[in-house]
Amino acid sequence: MTTPPCSPPLRQVRVRAPGKVNLSLRVGARQRDGYHQLSTVFQAVSVYEEVVAVAHAGLLVTVGGPQAAQVPTDASNLAARAARLLAEHAGVAHDVHLHLVKSVPVAGGMAGGSADAAAALLACDALWDTGCGREELVALAAELGSDVPFLLVGHTAVGAGRGEVLTPALTRGEFHWAFAVRDRGLSTAAVYAAFDERHRGHGRPLPAGDAADTPMMQALLAGNAVELGRVLHNDLQDVALDLTPHLADALAVARRAGALGVIVSGSGPTVAALARSRQHALVIAAAFTAAGVADRVLTAVGPAPGARVVSDDLVDNDSSGARGPGSP
Ligand code: C5P
Repeated sequence: MTTPPCSPPLRQVRVRAPGKVNLSLRVGARQRDGYHQLSTVFQAVSVYEEVVAVAHAGLLVTVGGPQAAQVPTDASNLAARAARLLAEHAGVAHDVHLHLVKSVPVAGGMAGGSADAAAALLACDALWDTGCGREELVALAAELGSDVPFLLVGHTAVGAGRGEVLTPALTRGEFHWAFAVRDRGLSTAAVYAAFDERHRGHGRPLPAGDAADTPMMQALLAGNAVELGRVLHNDLQDVALDLTPHLADALAVARRAGALGVIVSGSGPTVAALARSRQHALVIAAAFTAAGVADRVLTAVGPAPGARVVSDDLVDNDSSGARGPGSP
């Protein structure tokens, strides 16, 4: 009996990137490039996308997780676009199998697709040894979407421009969140288009001056969740509610359960409720479930770190090929 030939082991890089909630989202005028000027405060939260990158001839994307069927695996996938962009930038072939394990709601206003792109940039940078610095990756991230740079950086930050011009915000302690997730997402572009219709493309004047003076910055700096809850704000909330009126029920349920503040997350439809504690977040999540206002609930803490490599190993070539890199 002959022993089957052994294939050399493959390098496998796993990266985790967080989802986000906009603590404040103020939308200004639409620019010539079609994007709106924003003044926003992002907070990364401990709901993570995982991207597993393994060497592969050509570019292959596979997806796992609760809403995997809703995620395209073709060239339009944001992680695939990230891999291609980095390969072009570094002058290498885009040879990689990216397996996305999704926990952040799909099209939910928590930037799951952008987190995949941020994670893919970091994973491919490691796998291909392209040696790009953080700054170079953040610049590439901005080409992929307004939220992608923030998900590389993580924690809490003020976003200007389209959201990609970031200034870190100082915070103390942890903030606890409960999220009501709907299976059916909202298109960010459609929400902005509805916003334009309502405001005739003008948006509202954006706050000028130093964001550090604002009550929100003071609440974050003091770790004061009660104050933060009072000043949560989202200019897109009214249009998200117009497009999905039953979101109002989730907002009401969170308020009745004692949430310190509750908003639609980004362009929705996820509803984000700020809780007093981890235990209180679980109580609000249970209230969402009991009232039937969510298809799925999540609890999380913020701020969470940005995209980071969690492992970089050699794995058995044959088992990796047979089961896919996302398998345990
Ligand atoms: O940046 P991202 O690709 O996630 O944005 C998705 C869509 O949301 C854009 O194509 C645009 O229609 C809208 N958008 C916007 N202004 C922003 C960010 C996003 O109009 N600042």
